[in-house]
Amino acid sequence: MRRHNEAHSIVSAITFLFVLGLSLLVSPYESVQAAIQSLIWPETSSQAEAAELEEASADIPIHPLIWSETPFQAEAAELEEVPADSNKDSDGSETAEEEPETLTSSSLQTSAESCNDMRVLVDRSHPLPPGYAPEDLVALQSYKVLVLGSSEMSLRREATGQLKGLVSAAAADGEELVVASAYRSYADQEGLFGKLKSVYGLEADRTSALPGHSQHQLGTAVDFTNAKVNYQVWEPFGYTTAAQWLSSHAHEYGFILAYPSGHEADTGYEWEPWHYRYVGTENAKRLVERGMILQEFLASEGVLPSC
Ligand code: DAL
Ligand code: ZN
Repeated sequence: MRRHNEAHSIVSAITFLFVLGLSLLVSPYESVQAAIQSLIWPETSSQAEAAELEEASADIPIHPLIWSETPFQAEAAELEEVPADSNKDSDGSETAEEEPETLTSSSLQTSAESCNDMRVLVDRSHPLPPGYAPEDLVALQSYKVLVLGSSEMSLRREATGQLKGLVSAAAADGEELVVASAYRSYADQEGLFGKLKSVYGLEADRTSALPGHSQHQLGTAVDFTNAKVNYQVWEPFGYTTAAQWLSSHAHEYGFILAYPSGHEADTGYEWEPWHYRYVGTENAKRLVERGMILQEFLASEGVLPSC
């Protein structure tokens, strides 16, 4: 009986080794290797990188929807390939920069050129120069405007004063508004877009502007969040009472929702219920009276970024 058991164990061991050998032969090498690696090193370097990226991207608008291909992706790829001094001939002389066709440029009546004008059009087809930065930036904290984390955030002086009025009025009505992002330099935007692109590929183009194309570089755009959405910058903010308050009152302080729902074809971006741009109270009043979205209003004013 004991001998029979031993023989049975030997046959079982040989069968096990045979089956294991066969499965290694037929399995794709990488998947076996990956399985073994995950047993030995539960956290691979790419997972650590992803975790680091997630932490670094905590204040980045992360869109929860699955994106489909858009006509803007091709444009993003083209823009990225254009070298910084591409508006110079090989002999160094300046040539007119070719402007890609956009939703509004064909009907644009140019009346002025300035980067400091509150009405300047900055969109997919109208970029700011990399070196442009407003000269009257002030820290939001010095105006006691609540900001996310300990980071320094700033906006242009006039916009900051009005923002203070806006968040105070919202607080008086029981609505918490915290600033998640304000002025971003060209380099900041480059870093942000790069991080999003490494996660989402060209889909990042749906919610993040390419460097030079962000209203945040103007020092007049602000992203809001609050506790109801765990201080994230994402679509659920659009369903909060704070977002309702903003859509009723932000224009009284000169702030306008830049990327409204249902207007992706006009603005080039998904709905961003958190992103408001300051245009001044008089301009905001005219925009509301005309029943326009920000993109239409700016295009009709015809102020181009040239500085
Ligand atoms: N999220 C807006 C489009 C920006 O990056 O400026
Ligand atoms: Zn924004």
